Amino acid sequence: MNILETRGLTHDFEGLKVITGVDLQVAEGERHAIIGPNGAGKTTLFNLITGTYTPKGGKVIFKNKDVTGARPHQMVRLGMGRSFQITSTFSRLTAFQNIRMAVLSKRGIRFNIFRFVDKMDDVTRETDEILKRINLDGERNIPASGLSYGKSRSLEISMALATDPEVVMLDEPTAGMSVDETHYAVGLIQRLTEGKTMVIIEHDMDVVFSLADRITVLHHGEILASGAPGEIRKNPKVKEAYLGEMEI
Ligand SMILES: Nc1ncnc2c1ncn2[C@@H]1O[C@H](COP(=O)(O)OP(=O)(O)OP(=O)(O)O)[C@@H](O)[C@H]1O
Ligand SMILES: [Mg+2]
Repeated sequence: MNILETRGLTHDFEGLKVITGVDLQVAEGERHAIIGPNGAGKTTLFNLITGTYTPKGGKVIFKNKDVTGARPHQMVRLGMGRSFQITSTFSRLTAFQNIRMAVLSKRGIRFNIFRFVDKMDDVTRETDEILKRINLDGERNIPASGLSYGKSRSLEISMALATDPEVVMLDEPTAGMSVDETHYAVGLIQRLTEGKTMVIIEHDMDVVFSLADRITVLHHGEILASGAPGEIRKNPKVKEAYLGEMEI
């Protein structure tokens, strides 16, 4: 069963066509990588799926429900988590406070003081459990701005997962990481997405081929190919699109 689909998804920025008739299909439980040259429309596709932008045409279907035009917080409540290409942790908040924000957003806790105080113990417990799982319990009270680059990206990946989403969308989680940090992040992603569906935008082909069950190639806003890693690697159209860009 497909847990996530787009049907004929289309978007433009003041006439500049960026996404053209995209039919993306993500099966439940799979690890799906979206690759494509710079400017192909990958982040825009994420923004359309997660509700940051409303598509100009086509549909987004999530868990068999038409969610086209739903707002980002509605997508979170429906079970979609997301990380951003550009680090979007709150730099002055501590690791604990960042994760707690994510936990609170999923629970949709309203600031009714009596209910709030009751539930805060739960939230604190859950937040501390997450910090332990991602080995950041030692950095609990350090502001995000004081973490190493690798740790701050780990924090970001974990915020996307703190809401316990069924589908997690990661936009270039390893961008800018050293080889060691990338290695660590891949392990973390593997561990944290166990049993979940993941869609990952990634330029690092080692990461793509070590994580993905299925790959979709986006080129000039259209799907060029979609298939198992072995098929994609052999696909002549994909090789051509990447010519001069990178080896896959
Ligand atoms: N808010 C915006 N306003 C205008 N143009 C935009 C906007 N966002 C993206 N674009 C343009 O849309 C195209 C696709 O951009 P997008 O960021 O989706 O590509 P991408 O595949 O994620 O690239 P990268 O690999 O560099 O992250 C680019 O030409 C970009 O300049
Ligand atoms: Mg991008």
